[in-house]
Amino acid sequence: MILCTTITELKAALARQRSKSPNGFVGLVPTMGYLHEGHASLMRRAGSECEFTVVSVFVNPLQFGPSEDFDRYPRDLERDAALAEHNGADLLFAPSVSEMYPTKPLTRVLISEVTESLCGASRPGHFDGVGTVVSKLFNLVQPDRAYFGMKDAQQVAVIQQMANDLNMPVDIIPCETVREPDGLAMSSRNVYLEPEQRKQALVLSHTLQLAGELLLQPAMTAGELLRAAIANIRTAPLAVIDYVELLHYPSLRPLDPERKLAELHDRLILALAVKFGGTRLIDNRLFQPA
Ligand code: PAJ
Repeated sequence: MILCTTITELKAALARQRSKSPNGFVGLVPTMGYLHEGHASLMRRAGSECEFTVVSVFVNPLQFGPSEDFDRYPRDLERDAALAEHNGADLLFAPSVSEMYPTKPLTRVLISEVTESLCGASRPGHFDGVGTVVSKLFNLVQPDRAYFGMKDAQQVAVIQQMANDLNMPVDIIPCETVREPDGLAMSSRNVYLEPEQRKQALVLSHTLQLAGELLLQPAMTAGELLRAAIANIRTAPLAVIDYVELLHYPSLRPLDPERKLAELHDRLILALAVKFGGTRLIDNRLFQPA
């Protein structure tokens, strides 16, 4: 595996690869590092579909709010490099902040509507930072395919919208959420959880499971399902709800709370963001109508 920390090295390595194999697909897996099995599954998928897999590790300051965890976001490049190599990455791009933003960036990629709910509402400016850095990575790597996890389902909707709107020549590939054996969605932020918080964090996946069962009841309305989900999360004393929402996916438009879910023919998402102490966890489940 090639390790590049500068854009010059990255471009030279990609040029070598493209002259060796002009028709081979280049896959990109953008990450912020502290890699886990969720990231690894994206790399393996890229490796199975592309001839050359680029993994980026960059904690992007533009997508963190002023009171968020940019400074304390976990970092371990040596471990990340070993994990990426083990999972078939051909190139790891790990630039510094000054390499990616040598001067103060005055340009942003702003995506509207799909960014106005969920994490976009509770983290103002977050998706402007994501859209901007992902655009930069697409321009630098020029991948044929880029792989994103559905754990961040809103991020997938936002990136897909951006790529469509701007005719970016890349296929966005959504990949399934990878979970711990007990159901907790894998996340780099799980390391922050104290043992009791870790135990209670299972309420997220349990709530998604419960929602799947409730949805089978023919008279269940959107409002009833939401109330049941909120009540279930509140059974965990340490859980502080940021949002619990049931929306259309991928438009992320709201639903009429009185509508019977069995009558809907759209794909729906139940999305959760819950804090345990200072750690904010997200999870979601998509429901496909019959
Ligand atoms: P990060 O949180 O490191 O996630 C990188 C990619 O891994 C994202 O596409 C995310 O959805 C995916 N991922 C994380 N946990 C996962 C899990 N348990 N199962 C499957 N996939 C999972 O998302 C970001 O970084 C950044 O916003 C980024 C896109 C890199 C832009 O800075």
